[in-house]
Amino acid sequence: MNKRTFYLTTPIYYVNDAPHIGHSYTTIAADVLARYKRAKDLDVFFLTGTDEHGQKIQKAAQACNKTPMEFVTDVVDKFKTLWNNLDISNDDFIRTTEERHCSRVKKIFQQIFENGDIYLGEYEGWYCIPCESFWIESQLEERKCPECKRPVEKVKEKNYFFRLAKYQKSLLDYYEKHPHFIQPEPRKNELLHRIKTQIEDISISRSAVEWGIQVPMDPTHTIYVWIDALLNYITALGYEDDMKKFQKYWPANVHIIGKEILWFHGVIWPAILMSLKIDLPFKVFAHGWWTIEGQKISKSLGNAIDPTSIIQSYGADAYRYFLLREVPFGLDGNFSHSALIHRINSDLGNDLGNLLHRTLTMIEKYFDGVIPEIADTDDELKRLSKSTCDKVDDEMEELQFSKALENIWEFIGHANKFIEDKKPWLLAKTSITRTQLAAVIGSLARAIKDISVFIYPFMPGTAVEIQRQMGILEDNCSLSLEFQQGFKKDTVVHKGKPLFPKIDPLVLKNV
Ligand code: ME8
Repeated sequence: MNKRTFYLTTPIYYVNDAPHIGHSYTTIAADVLARYKRAKDLDVFFLTGTDEHGQKIQKAAQACNKTPMEFVTDVVDKFKTLWNNLDISNDDFIRTTEERHCSRVKKIFQQIFENGDIYLGEYEGWYCIPCESFWIESQLEERKCPECKRPVEKVKEKNYFFRLAKYQKSLLDYYEKHPHFIQPEPRKNELLHRIKTQIEDISISRSAVEWGIQVPMDPTHTIYVWIDALLNYITALGYEDDMKKFQKYWPANVHIIGKEILWFHGVIWPAILMSLKIDLPFKVFAHGWWTIEGQKISKSLGNAIDPTSIIQSYGADAYRYFLLREVPFGLDGNFSHSALIHRINSDLGNDLGNLLHRTLTMIEKYFDGVIPEIADTDDELKRLSKSTCDKVDDEMEELQFSKALENIWEFIGHANKFIEDKKPWLLAKTSITRTQLAAVIGSLARAIKDISVFIYPFMPGTAVEIQRQMGILEDNCSLSLEFQQGFKKDTVVHKGKPLFPKIDPLVLKNV
């Protein structure tokens, strides 16, 4: 039987600069969801990539005396290396400079033109290069870009336009019929207001920008970088060339994006798909923004956290955990080294690391390192594990990663309390209570294995390490994702170093 499919995407990132914490946040969230869905046996296609055309990249390349292509290739490598270091399990990585993308974009542009939704007109207004966005005078805030608050430049040029306004009613109808299309809810309301009051045809070509894909019917224009970029979600599936993958995975189950690009994904993208007569994605989830120690991430402030240095200091899993645990997905968050160290010391070291270490120590001490067998009956921890699993499933459906983690940590707390309550050290004092001791330790071992399955999407490396120390990976190199399974007879544990050794907060002085 064919498996159910799940197609998810991140934005494709601009390559004018190295990736920072914000980019890593979206990609980690998407990776967690992809791993979770794969573990649930879905056929997942997880796409990320890079947005390489446009004026911003053209300018950045000029500033370094490089050709745009030389420039972008260097930066793309940084993204790929980071995704590798963060254990990102994407199935494809699309670059908008690739031939497969450019040729398909031209065909699609031509189709929209033939459908009567593109016309030549004159654009006069304002353009924000960092956001690659057109604005009309009334949208500016103190003559600056309303999105990033940076200076805008006046533009007057002959451009091709897309008939966005024509789709106003269809978009509003679609929103009404699909109340969960845009998440979280408050962002949808902002968008609805803007569709009702501010929708206009949009310019979708630039005559003044060379670094882009040529408009097929007019080579003196390049396609507006946002149209080029949005189309990646279908060109990567082979749209209009080889339709097999497209037919299999489209519509996307979710586009995960940051809140600042919701207009493009929630309005322009659906209208383009309507023009192409393609089904719309099921969901667009716009998460919040990170600030750094209370300040907006900005090149001029020089505060963009380099995820690589954090991974080097604390490990990829601690970073992945922190970003998804610290802030409810959808809300804004603040990154601080002290908060990160606090989470590592308390949640990861004290709660999770200690639970594993204590349990393995007892297995060594009381059972010569062999996990005691237990009957496959329900006990307190097994029941709690099952209810945790159900809660985590519900939260993951809603992309509520922090709540899923809260539930998992509640279970870890129960397992630690179980040790305090059962006092295995007292049970070990006499042979009469040996069976009880075996039941307590066996139950704990099974709970820890379940914990490794729960945390796997969030912290894949730690899940592997737990299972290695539990002796599960010995003859089978791949991680076991079976939930509530016992252990093979005579499984021998291999207690290793504590998972997350305590970090002295004084290291902060050296950061
Ligand atoms: O907008 N906090 O690319 P981009 C959280 N190329 N997330 C952040 C963030 C922050 N401070 N900063 C960036 C583009 N992000 C276009 C997208 S898609 C067809 C084209 C994340 O390099 C967040 O996901 O500016 C945001 O939407 C994305 O990076 C913007 O990346």
